[in-house]
This record gives sequence, C-alpha cells and structure tokens, in this order.
Amino acid sequence: MQVGIDKIGFYTPNKYVDMIDLANARNQDPNKFLIGIGQEKMTVADETQDAVSMGINATLDFVDEIDKDKVGLMIFGTESSVDQSKSASLFVKTALNLRPEVRTFEVKEACFGLTAALMMATDFVRLHPEQTAIVIGSDIARYGLNTGGEVTQGAGSISMLVKADPSILALNEGHSAYSDDINDFWRPNNSKTAMVDGKYSTQVYLDFFTKTFEDYKKQKNLKTEDFDALIYHLPFTKMGLKANRLAIADESEVVSEKLSKTFEASKKLSVNVGNVYTASLYLSLLSLLQNGELAPNDLIGLFSYGSGAMAEFFTGNVVEGFKQQLHPDKVQARLDARTKLTIPEYETIFTQSLADPVEGKELSSDEQAGVWYFAGVKNGVRLYKQK
Ligand code: CAA
Repeated sequence: MQVGIDKIGFYTPNKYVDMIDLANARNQDPNKFLIGIGQEKMTVADETQDAVSMGINATLDFVDEIDKDKVGLMIFGTESSVDQSKSASLFVKTALNLRPEVRTFEVKEACFGLTAALMMATDFVRLHPEQTAIVIGSDIARYGLNTGGEVTQGAGSISMLVKADPSILALNEGHSAYSDDINDFWRPNNSKTAMVDGKYSTQVYLDFFTKTFEDYKKQKNLKTEDFDALIYHLPFTKMGLKANRLAIADESEVVSEKLSKTFEASKKLSVNVGNVYTASLYLSLLSLLQNGELAPNDLIGLFSYGSGAMAEFFTGNVVEGFKQQLHPDKVQARLDARTKLTIPEYETIFTQSLADPVEGKELSSDEQAGVWYFAGVKNGVRLYKQK
C-alpha cells in the first residue's frame, strides 16, 4: 500500500517588501540580496496574522474537498507558537469543524517540525489506512530590523492531507536522519526574534545534507543520477543552491543540467515569499510540482533541516495525475494580491507585530473575504475570526 501526500494547501499574508527597496534602505547592493542571498520579495505578516490563522487559511484550500470524518490525526509544526501549553492545532480544529475524535497536537524542532509531523502522519496512515491525517507547518520568520538576517524573513503556511493511495506524492519507506546539539539558530522564550549564526548554520546545513544524502543513497543502492529532482529546505534560496551544487559536483553534464533545472523550478515560490521555516521544504515541493516538468513515478529527494540541529533525507514518487490536485492560478493570485509596502510602512507593521496584544482590544483585518485572522485577546484567550 502506498501512503503519501494527497492535497497541498498554501497561504501567505497580504503584504510584502521588495528586496531592491530593502537593499537601498540598508545601503546594500541590490544584487547582494537578489543574487548573493537569492531572494526577490518577502511576505510580511501584520499583527492580525499568526501561526494559527495562517495554518487555518492554508488548510481551507482543501478542507471542503475531503471527508472530515476520516481525519484521525492532525499535527501542527511551528516555531512561531502562540501558546506555551495549548496546541495551535486545537484552534484549527475548531475553525474548520473537525470532529472531536481527532488526535491533535503541536510539535517543535525548528524548521524540521513539519517533516516530523509528516513522518508521524505517514506511519499513522500505514497503521490505520482507512483514516487520513492533516499536517500543518506555519511560521513567521523574524530576525529584526537592520539585522543580517532581515533579508531572510518571510511568513506563510503549508497544510497537507496524508492518506493511503495518495494523488500527489507517494512517500517511500525509509529515511536517513542526522542530529547534533548545536547553536546555529534558536529563539529563547523571552525573545520574539531569532538568534542566528548564519554562516555556521549554512556550514552545518551543507554538512548534514551531505551526510544524509550519501547515507540514503547507500541504504537504497541509489546513485545521484537516479533522482529526477532534489529539493531542499530554503531559508533563503542561495542556501539550497549551495547544497544542490554539492549534489551535482561530480555528475555528468546531463545529470547536472537536469537537477539544476528542477532546483530552479523548486525555488520560484520561496524567492517571492521568503523563509517560512517549517513550511519551507514543502513550499519547494509545491513550486517544483507547479513549475517542473515531472512525469508520473519520477523520484524526488527531499532534504529537511531544522536548526539546533536535525536533518532528514527521504524520497517520494510523483503520482500520475498529480497536476489535477494543484491550483497554480490560485497560488499566483494569492501572491499577486499582496500589497507592496514601503520600507517605513514595513518597519511600522513589523514593530507593531512584535508587541503583545492589548487585552480587550479588537483587531480588524484588511484581508480578503473568507480569510481567517487573529482578532485580539479577551480574558487572556486568543480569538480568531473569519473575514
Ligand atoms: N552581488 C552578488 N553577490 C553578492 C554581492 C553582490 N553585490 N555582495 C555579496 N554577495 C554574495 C556574497 O558573496 C555571499 O555569497 P556566498 O554565500 O556564496 O559566499 C552572499 O552574497 C551573502 O553575502 P555575505 O555572506 O557577506 O552576507 P551577510 O554577512 O549579510 O550574511 C546570511 C548572509 C548569513 C545569509 C545572513 O543573512 C543570515 O544570517 N541570515 C539568516 C540565515 C538563516 O536563516 N539561518 C538559519 C538557516 S536554517 C533555518 O531556516 C532556521 C531554522 O531551522 C528555523
């Protein structure tokens, strides 16, 4: 029996900053951001969008197409959690009217959170093939104004339905994992912005990629040429490009060209959205599925990385007819509907979004009709509403 990804939903909030504007404001050469970092735009979340509301909005993309009574598990991966105790997934469950019998909770290991959720969901469906699982990754990447990491911010969510006989990607059994207790990126409880040693993080990411990719190939008796695409966690697209260069370094021209082309297709959404932490690898997957020239049964290798650090390499095969499950026009419309912020507007919105919500103050959203948003706090309880 095959188990894997049957639906993919995506949401990113309705404002962005252009990297050329940001470079000019920070006295940097725009090509450093566009080419050196590999980012063109970054989504900005205002105070009315958080991990919960974005997770609801991503799942809304497909929730009306599925049999809600079959959902036995829902896992929410995030490092932008809104509560130290209550799971973000409980807010989602209520907003989307899922049945009370669902097993639901939140997981954390930096950007690895959604992969952890996907792996648990896949094992769950293998044991309970008559049930399905929803996994959500939802994050706001905040490094702070005028910081080195500012250009690698972003916001968004990916939600996926995992089921038996999936329509998009059949996941293969087995994986290669690697972890180490290091300090490349972290966010202490008393900080709303991340602490990062960006250069060290890049080194560890590349090292863990090499280790897990080589180990996986050995385990499965595969060669690099057997892969039709390799996709990566993309905190900024240059990081994935560096890993892809390592992967193709000793390959023939044909293999290098094939895997460079698929990498280009996989980064298109991230270039325009920015870092979405847990959801980032799966934004690469969505981008590859929409923009790559994939054929049924093509083998995709997925590299997941969460700082701290934990990495995993695993694979899936593209399912015949997968394009029918995608909605590229809707994804593009969502990106096109974003309003471009001036740098002073972005700085004001960013600073506002760092502040704690004021008890009893109701927030209103400038999103489109149907979008869920964070409406404020009443008696200490977070309230979510649909526009
Ligand atoms: N034209 C073209 N390229 C240029 C250029 C120009 N005018 N000027 C500079 N560049 C290139 C540089 O040569 C360099 O390229 P290489 O990386 O290939 O050497 C690149 O632009 C960046 O230049 P710098 O290294 O000088 O830039 P910097 O000192 O500002 O640092 C950064 C860049 C390390 C990426 C920094 O932005 C950062 O720390 N960002 C955060 C990184 C991050 O998110 N790390 C965590 C990753 S994992 C994750 O997502 C976390 C998780 O698990 C939650």
